[in-house]
Amino acid sequence: MRRVGIVGVGEYLPKKVLTNADLEKMVQTSDEWITTRTGIKQRRLAAKDEASSDLAIKAGRRALEDARLNPKDLELIIVATITPDMHFPSTACFVQANLGAKKAVCFDVSAACAGFVYALTIAQQFISRGVYKNALIIGAEVLSTITDWEDRNTCVLFGDGAGAAVVAEVKSGGGLSTYLGSDGTKADLLMIPGGGSRNPSTHETINKRLHYLKMQGNEVFKIAVKIMTEAAREALKQADLECSDVDLVIPHQANIRIIMAMAKKLDLPPERIYLNIEKYGNVSSASTAIALCEAVKTGRIKKGDIVLLDAFGSGLVWGACVIKW
Ligand code: UT7
Repeated sequence: MRRVGIVGVGEYLPKKVLTNADLEKMVQTSDEWITTRTGIKQRRLAAKDEASSDLAIKAGRRALEDARLNPKDLELIIVATITPDMHFPSTACFVQANLGAKKAVCFDVSAACAGFVYALTIAQQFISRGVYKNALIIGAEVLSTITDWEDRNTCVLFGDGAGAAVVAEVKSGGGLSTYLGSDGTKADLLMIPGGGSRNPSTHETINKRLHYLKMQGNEVFKIAVKIMTEAAREALKQADLECSDVDLVIPHQANIRIIMAMAKKLDLPPERIYLNIEKYGNVSSASTAIALCEAVKTGRIKKGDIVLLDAFGSGLVWGACVIKW
């Protein structure tokens, strides 16, 4: 089996900023409530003509440049998203066409906020077995298109953005373990009920606002703390490491209270947790990807560091990966 690691990272955040003060004018909420309950101060919004693939392409190009890989040599593209450009074809195919990555095999992964960790795991499997030499994995979301801007319970939480990584064989370090899990019995806690084959789009589904994201936030919160803690423990166990060995945790950025409750259970000091939720809110599959990119670019991750990616989301699904940088 080949040793597989991340050899390049990139991100793209749309320019438009929506602050908590802006939201105060849209729904009955306050900066104080959003900040204390979630840790979010602002989020980015894609322009009207920006779809997920547009964000994915920009982040993907930056990751390829960082890895010094010509798109023509790319063998696999995986896009993790819950806001694809269209039901089909896959967003990965739009990315391929734009990059001119003619050789690449392309598909999307639907694993909500754990999508980037799932994509990384899939890419690692292909490359470690020698099926492909490299992969571009991207988490890209335009969550503003599935957000109900009249629902204060959810609209304050989400944002748009993309993060990408190039995965390839490495001589030292690389992925040490990966742990994924799913529990479909809890699907109703977080979903978009309309617009699929269960409730195809009709005037009725639109009037009932079924094409927007619905969440039982409180229930998700409790499960998230438990699941993220368990996933971290399991991935570390498989890598034969202790929590104290971890230099930096890149958690899914859903709520600062979820992240800090998990850190407390794992006995991890705050300085070993990467946070950017304040700037971007929850960007689903793109959250861990953007955070990883920022942590690398700002020198928070250095060669030899043990990095733990830890995410959960709608499904429910969850995943954690341990990487030696
Ligand atoms: O990405 C993966 C999935 N997402 C998550 O992980 C999110 C998980 N859940 C959460 O982060 C939290 O549950 C929320 C941030 C969504 C909500 O926080 P909470 O502390 O669980 O609040 P709550 O739902 O229990 O609501 C408390 C109160 C309610 O008022 P009453 O019934 O006590 O009078 C809500 O109506 O806060 C009210 N509320 C708000 N007030 C002001 C809910 N949203 C808002 C708001 N502004 N935006």
